[in-house]
Amino acid sequence: MKTEILPSLLAADYGHLADDILRAQASGAEALHIDIMDPTFVPNMSFGPDIVALCRKVAPDFYRNVHLMMNRPDLYLEAFAKAGAQTIQIHIEADCDLHVELKRIRALGCKAAVVLNPETPVEILYPYLDEVDEALVMTVHPGYGGQKFIAECLPKVTWLRAQRPALDIMIDGGGNAETIPLAYKAGANQFVAGSYLYKQADMKAAVTALKASLS
Ligand code: DX5
Ligand code: ZN
Repeated sequence: MKTEILPSLLAADYGHLADDILRAQASGAEALHIDIMDPTFVPNMSFGPDIVALCRKVAPDFYRNVHLMMNRPDLYLEAFAKAGAQTIQIHIEADCDLHVELKRIRALGCKAAVVLNPETPVEILYPYLDEVDEALVMTVHPGYGGQKFIAECLPKVTWLRAQRPALDIMIDGGGNAETIPLAYKAGANQFVAGSYLYKQADMKAAVTALKASLS
């Protein structure tokens, strides 16, 4: 199954955002992970649709994977699709009808993904598995980059892989050279890495090494 590495823009240098978008693209990573935060859902704030539009402007061919850590993603789906989101990820813990909103994401021309927080049991994803292009298992509590990988979340990945052998399954949080191979063995095929990749002097070498470790 095709594997993908996704640098998370949250860990970029905000004084040099355009350069750091291009650095991620030049690293050989398949897509950029863009974290959108609503402070009623996580204890932090980050970017809005204008930053997604900036990514499209700076690197039009670099795939934009947009993670909405929001209580009411339903209110912003159009705005993010219009700004250039290509996959939109919404949380199962959000305060909206997931069946309806996943369908709307696809109707907007984007891929639809559902996200699961560490404390949420994976089985509740079951009714949505035929309505998504991707499932994202959080391996940290969302809100901040640079946290420690929660390995206890990996059995959720394995459960999902057993249910859907061909589904894209992503992990997000604490991804690095030690933890990404563990997630791969558990059954994930898409891997976010924020602080680990952005702190590298040579991001391309780090992405190449991560890819080599996935087999
Ligand atoms: C956490 C975000 C993650 C974060 C990952 O709230 O959803 O995407 O950027 O950062 P690292 O890889 O540093 O844990
Ligand atoms: Zn994220």
